[in-house]
Amino acid sequence: MTPLLQQAFSAHHFRQQGHALIDQLADYLQAAQDQALPTLPWCPPPQMLAHWQADAAQGPGGDPEHFFAEVLAQSIHIHHPQYMGHQVSGPAPLAALAELLAAVLNNGMAVYEMGQVSTALEKIVVRQLADALGYPPEADGILTSGGTLANLTAMLSARQVQAGPQANVWELGTAEPYAIMVSEEAHYCVERTARIMGWGAAGIVKVPVDARYRLRTDLLETYYQQARQQGRKVLAVVGSASSTSTGAYDDLEATAAFCRRHGLWFHVDGAHGGAAAYSPKYRHLVNGIAQADSVVVDFHKMLLTPGLVTALVFRNGTHSYQTFAQQAQYLWAQGNEEWFNLAKRTFECTKRMMSVKVYALMRTYGPALFADYVTQQYDLAQTLAQQIAQRPFLELTTPPMANIVCFRWVPPGLSGPVLSELNALIRQRMVEQGDFYLVQTQLKGETYLRVTLMNPATTPAHLTALLDQVETVGQQLAFAPSRPKPI
Ligand SMILES: Cc1ncc(COP(=O)(O)O)c(C=O)c1O
Repeated sequence: MTPLLQQAFSAHHFRQQGHALIDQLADYLQAAQDQALPTLPWCPPPQMLAHWQADAAQGPGGDPEHFFAEVLAQSIHIHHPQYMGHQVSGPAPLAALAELLAAVLNNGMAVYEMGQVSTALEKIVVRQLADALGYPPEADGILTSGGTLANLTAMLSARQVQAGPQANVWELGTAEPYAIMVSEEAHYCVERTARIMGWGAAGIVKVPVDARYRLRTDLLETYYQQARQQGRKVLAVVGSASSTSTGAYDDLEATAAFCRRHGLWFHVDGAHGGAAAYSPKYRHLVNGIAQADSVVVDFHKMLLTPGLVTALVFRNGTHSYQTFAQQAQYLWAQGNEEWFNLAKRTFECTKRMMSVKVYALMRTYGPALFADYVTQQYDLAQTLAQQIAQRPFLELTTPPMANIVCFRWVPPGLSGPVLSELNALIRQRMVEQGDFYLVQTQLKGETYLRVTLMNPATTPAHLTALLDQVETVGQQLAFAPSRPKPI
């Protein structure tokens, strides 16, 4: 080894740097929980880039502790109780430690001998989730890198299975005009899936939603028949559990019944809200999920795990072997269903040891941890909705079903585009102030503030403070002589 390589691989340095980093992270976690940091130390993109360009221009050297401290200080702080933005979990610290373990081991996972432990753990983690979903013993699946990829992988299996073995789509390709039906509120990755599959815009049939933003199952038949008349071969219906913008849960039982009637594949995108299966109080939201042919659940959203780790589970486990049927001579012999050679069933070749972090949580705390978390966060959304209802100038879009709440500030006399612009400005101002992190969404063409209650340390008092700030900033902006323009 050259001296530089020796330095880079020194166990001694690793021990020193690692201990220092753990101390730094523990202090950081405490500071975030104590609100001794802003939620988001906002910095416009050009300044952030200039800062790090200047750092890079200094060339190699310097101690990593200083670098780590800067990264910590300048990042968004998801562990801050006033982080209420996108659906990213503030990971349980133990899961982050397991991630470090997995990063050092860096087992590749494509074939069994490249990841013995994590392959076995993956089977156990998937089984445990399948049990929570109410799936039968023959259910099986895989972990993969994100809900987007998992939804695509599910649709690849659906195409292969629905087309039938004689069509052998994987081998021969297909020009069939397939389509997927989905609610217009579904995550955009479902539409992307249809387009990636080469079915174009007509490959995604968007069904309208009801007043609570749930798929109108009463319209499924009409939209299905229309698609058929237009020459589309509908392959699958995707139910959202829940949708992204408002956290609405589609009626999975009605959707399952529709799919059975027409022999369609039923897929549930439970990337965010599939986790409700763990909560005795909120499990009813996913009634019918066990009838789905395939289900996606993100552990890095509502299951306290650092990204990315997503489960794709099939009710009939053999379907997971249909997705990628090709031969890789140098990796495995074709044909047999080897659960332990995971690259046969996942998009990835090299894959992170993602099961380790999930299993670390399951083994240490049990499924009760997930149950407590989901129940608490969903309860908190009900509390926020009640607080909003008590304020005359705040308007709730719809009673929340998950831990996602959309609302807006509606001062007397304002409506339409001006109201949308004002709410966008409120959010922008609040992000710049850095006390809270919240996002915005478009619903029926209008802009709403959107809050996802991800942090278990968030309390009703934080929610009151949030609404106070929305109203204060709203007042300041509405009555400012010249209103700033949104970014
Ligand atoms: C309902 C739903 N599906 C899929 C996704 C995409 O998941 P990922 O970010 O893990 O790719 C999201 C992300 O927000 C989502 O909310």
